[in-house]
Amino acid sequence: MQTTFSHTDIISITDFTASQILYLCEAGRHMHDLEKSGKRYSLSDTCRFRSLASMFYEPSTRTRASFITAMRELGGQSDGFSGTEGTSVMKKETIRDTIMMMGANHFDVIVMRHPLDGSLQWAADISASPVINGGDGKNEHPTQALLDLLTLYMLNNNNLDGISIGFGGDLSHGRTIRSLSLALSHFKNITIRWAAEDFLGMPPDLSDMLARRNVKVVREAAVKDVMKQVQYYYMTRPQLERMEGISQARIIEMMRLYRIDLQKVEGLDVKILHPLPVNSEIAEIDYQVFFSRAQSFFKQAEFGIFMRKALLYEMLKDGDYIHFNDSLPQKLCEGNNRLPRRIHEDRKHDMFIDKITEGVVLDHLKPGLRRDIDDVLGLEDKGYSCITAAITGKKNPFLKTNLKELTERELKSLALLSPEPTVNYIRNGKVTEKFVYLLCGNTNCITRIIPEDVPPRFYNDEGILRCRYCRREYRVINRKVSPGELEDYRRAIPQAILPVEQH
Ligand code: NCD
Repeated sequence: MQTTFSHTDIISITDFTASQILYLCEAGRHMHDLEKSGKRYSLSDTCRFRSLASMFYEPSTRTRASFITAMRELGGQSDGFSGTEGTSVMKKETIRDTIMMMGANHFDVIVMRHPLDGSLQWAADISASPVINGGDGKNEHPTQALLDLLTLYMLNNNNLDGISIGFGGDLSHGRTIRSLSLALSHFKNITIRWAAEDFLGMPPDLSDMLARRNVKVVREAAVKDVMKQVQYYYMTRPQLERMEGISQARIIEMMRLYRIDLQKVEGLDVKILHPLPVNSEIAEIDYQVFFSRAQSFFKQAEFGIFMRKALLYEMLKDGDYIHFNDSLPQKLCEGNNRLPRRIHEDRKHDMFIDKITEGVVLDHLKPGLRRDIDDVLGLEDKGYSCITAAITGKKNPFLKTNLKELTERELKSLALLSPEPTVNYIRNGKVTEKFVYLLCGNTNCITRIIPEDVPPRFYNDEGILRCRYCRREYRVINRKVSPGELEDYRRAIPQAILPVEQH
């Protein structure tokens, strides 16, 4: 059992084992006991001369403050930013470069929050110091899940098996429910019941993951049906900032039947949890509940300090400090997203190459994109010629250019316009390389943001192809990719998220 967290990146709760979680819960309980017996500063030698960088690209009160408090109580120091105004992010600095600057400033550990899914795995790939995910888009918030588990552990007699919990509010656009439910999936006999509008309901990819991990997930018609059957009810705020084209008024309307008010908790022994903040205008929890016996979320917030103190203690207690390395490994700009395709030697393929002997042929493109592709490849500016296939009835046109090859940015821009293009490199009149360029389909994934330069990478998670960064399952959309080709590709990629250097 690994119980040392020295130099460990904390990116996804699925990277933990059940025994590691229980170890951290015990460590969190210890921090709680120290506090309650008046020994708040008894470990304040642990992080003397150690520093925490907090990089919050999104608003935060609790997460940021609790990391800073935890670091202070362990004797360390913190610095960083809260919101991007006043930082070089306003001058279009990439995540890669900002992380490198934190390294140059000798920070020992970084906690970061960012609106893009997968941005924290990327930060961890870049950073020599360990990185903690303080929330990446609507992907994960592992330390929130750990503090939620600590709260459940303490309320439930030091036990996380057999828990039945209700989820409400917005299960679709937030990260706390995703992380908490995946965290609970490490334990036995877990039941999740939820009630919400379809639009705010549990995303199918999460229900699938939970089903595979033996968690019983039941959708109920009403909040009261959930409340009657659970010990804990975890409410969440509708994540308006992650919804497009929908007004607050419309969300208030959707939440009408699903808000928590006194009537819903009356006569029940349920504890109401919430990662906070509560939106005072939507009021997903009515103000009267704040003063009721059921309210357990402020206790939960203090448990955040204990858990983060435990985590920082475990991460920093015996590690040496790291010397800044000013160079970036080449591996950081290489993906593994080129699905190789067989090169046919038959006559039909002559049409790809008859007009060029050196160049690139792009095939299986979406129709009607000729101009856009010209633009993203900058063909006119570069003075390169290109010929599009004008074969009547051909659904997926192809395009020939006499560019030598395409850069990673060009391939990515192309795949954003026309997913899964087949790319052929022609040398001396022959196809020498042929591959399908894969790009994660999650529209909020960091690998899709051109200037961030994150190379798309996938891994094989027990038979499922997942994006290394946002960890969403990759589903092939182009029927030109055969199941056999996909299977061969999947088998050839890493089985787990290994540090980049080891690939
Ligand atoms: C949450 C977050 O940012 O994901 N807050 C938190 O960290 N306690 C939940 C939210 O903002 O709704």
